[in-house]
Amino acid sequence: EKGTYPYYMLKEIDEQPAVMRRLVQEYQAENGAIKLDQELVDEVITSDRIYIVACGTSYNAGLAAKQLIEKTTEIPVEVHLSSEFGYNMPLLSQKPFFIFLTQSGETADSRQVLVQINRLNHPSLTITNVAGSTLSREAKYTLLLHAGPEIAVASTKAYTAQIAVLALFAKGIGEVKQIAAAKDFDVFHELALVASAMETMISEKAVISQLTEDYLTGTRNAFYIGRGNDYYVSCEASLKLKEISYIQAEGFAAGELKHGTIALIEDGTPVIGVITEAHTGAHTRGNLKEVESRGAKTVVIVSEELARPTDQLVLPNVHPLLTSLVSVIPTQLIAYFATLQRGYDVDKPRNLAKSVTVE
Ligand code: M6R
Repeated sequence: EKGTYPYYMLKEIDEQPAVMRRLVQEYQAENGAIKLDQELVDEVITSDRIYIVACGTSYNAGLAAKQLIEKTTEIPVEVHLSSEFGYNMPLLSQKPFFIFLTQSGETADSRQVLVQINRLNHPSLTITNVAGSTLSREAKYTLLLHAGPEIAVASTKAYTAQIAVLALFAKGIGEVKQIAAAKDFDVFHELALVASAMETMISEKAVISQLTEDYLTGTRNAFYIGRGNDYYVSCEASLKLKEISYIQAEGFAAGELKHGTIALIEDGTPVIGVITEAHTGAHTRGNLKEVESRGAKTVVIVSEELARPTDQLVLPNVHPLLTSLVSVIPTQLIAYFATLQRGYDVDKPRNLAKSVTVE
């Protein structure tokens, strides 16, 4: 039940720190190791490539976890859209391992890929919020998101739970493989820090609501830009904004702007930059300057260690592989407030269903 909350989406945004803490509890074994099925671990460590297959926000969560899995397991990761992969299957590696990310566990586009993968006898893992769901039953292994029911059509806590479960999974695999980056990655401690950082951002609602009013009122379109993981968060941020507020929003790789997209910038176009990586931050700032000089109104969402005094939204520092878990929070709230301010139903956007059971 949504209790005193006006909308499920707001409740679900607020629940994210608790979900992080619950995942730490659920996945921590008594000896402090990660709870993962031994057979699952064996199949992953002998695979030569991980294929993540998903749709919508779950696809964006796969992208956000790609670097983190590659760095901690040293297994290459490809992230694919189910509706593309199923009909144009790429040439697979010798020993592929499949991960299906799906909040509902019922998405038809993802299921049709799993059916094909099962026919080819490749091992698969479904990461889902719903125990006993179709994709969970049909995949060889399941890991649960433990996020509690997600009712709002716009997915929020499932996105962060998926990244967190992938972080736990990657740490577990990397440790068995004795990868140095995995040993140094104290995932339980880092997720606890993420939970507190999320709380800090969630407590900024008044600031974020005002910022949304100042920058997004009356706009037809808006852009999020970033590089690396910040680009992947930009993709999720723009999906969230467009699906409920109907503002035409796009997430762009900041460096690609000058290769065409910059033509869309007009006087007053909102451009929101996400900056959490030291090695790309200066370049993204340069890209923000380029759009500003063409009339854009820019907002910066930035990690504390990289922040400048004029930046509007400052994120507490967290582990460099987990920044998406925190940088996405203000973007969820921006989508929420933009929708409220336009007078639309936050939980039930037009033309959309919570679970998409047709291909
Ligand atoms: O249940 P799933 O995770 O498989 O759903 C995938 C997408 O349909 C879903 O994430 C959709 O994009 C959301 N409405 C996004 O907020």
